[in-house]
Amino acid sequence: MKIDIVTLFPEMFVGPFDQSIISRAMKKKLVEIRIHQLRDWATDKHHLTDDRPFGGGPGMVLKPEPLFGSVERLKTENTKVLLMSPQGSVFKQTKAQSLKEESHIIIVCGRYEGVDQRFIDELVDEEISIGDYVLSGGEPAAIVVVDAIVRLIPGAIGKGESLDNESFNENLLDFPVYTQPAEFRGLKVPEVLLSGHHGEIARWRKNKAEEKTRKVRPELIV
Ligand code: ADE
Repeated sequence: MKIDIVTLFPEMFVGPFDQSIISRAMKKKLVEIRIHQLRDWATDKHHLTDDRPFGGGPGMVLKPEPLFGSVERLKTENTKVLLMSPQGSVFKQTKAQSLKEESHIIIVCGRYEGVDQRFIDELVDEEISIGDYVLSGGEPAAIVVVDAIVRLIPGAIGKGESLDNESFNENLLDFPVYTQPAEFRGLKVPEVLLSGHHGEIARWRKNKAEEKTRKVRPELIV
């Protein structure tokens, strides 16, 4: 899989993509991630990427020229173009699973008051939000989306780690987990987990997952 990210702040990706699962997946060539400076496609002599909105109002709007220039240059026949924006549909595990199947994704990071609507109408396949709050730009959202996709690529997660039993599988949050020691400051690990009884452990985990989901995310239970 190839992922191209278009941003005014390429440095924001250096730390997050240099760590852990994403970095390992890149080294193993499971994913190729390239970061592009939007300003490189600015067409005027001052390399401007934004301007005031027509019709007035506060803030600045990303100009169409660098947006069209970058995406048209990077796009191929099988590219999915995503725009990170609080106006998008909210990102879910099911979306991460379907995006994992794409061969090429371009992620454009929005900024300021928004991006020129002509770019969205002509070149964006999907606007994605990571939640109902406003970030100062799409960069942290792009990092979240890339992380959620890349860890699903077969081979990205190491031996001993697993994609089974995860939160949102079967629309449930995760069950609680414990590790050694079996007693810590008088706090005991639930007896059933020490019993070695796999059937009972599975039942206990399912119950706990349902209980937790009902309490904090009842809308997940249909
Ligand atoms: N840009 C600003 N806020 C955002 C959000 N919640 N999700 C995605 N991109 C954004």
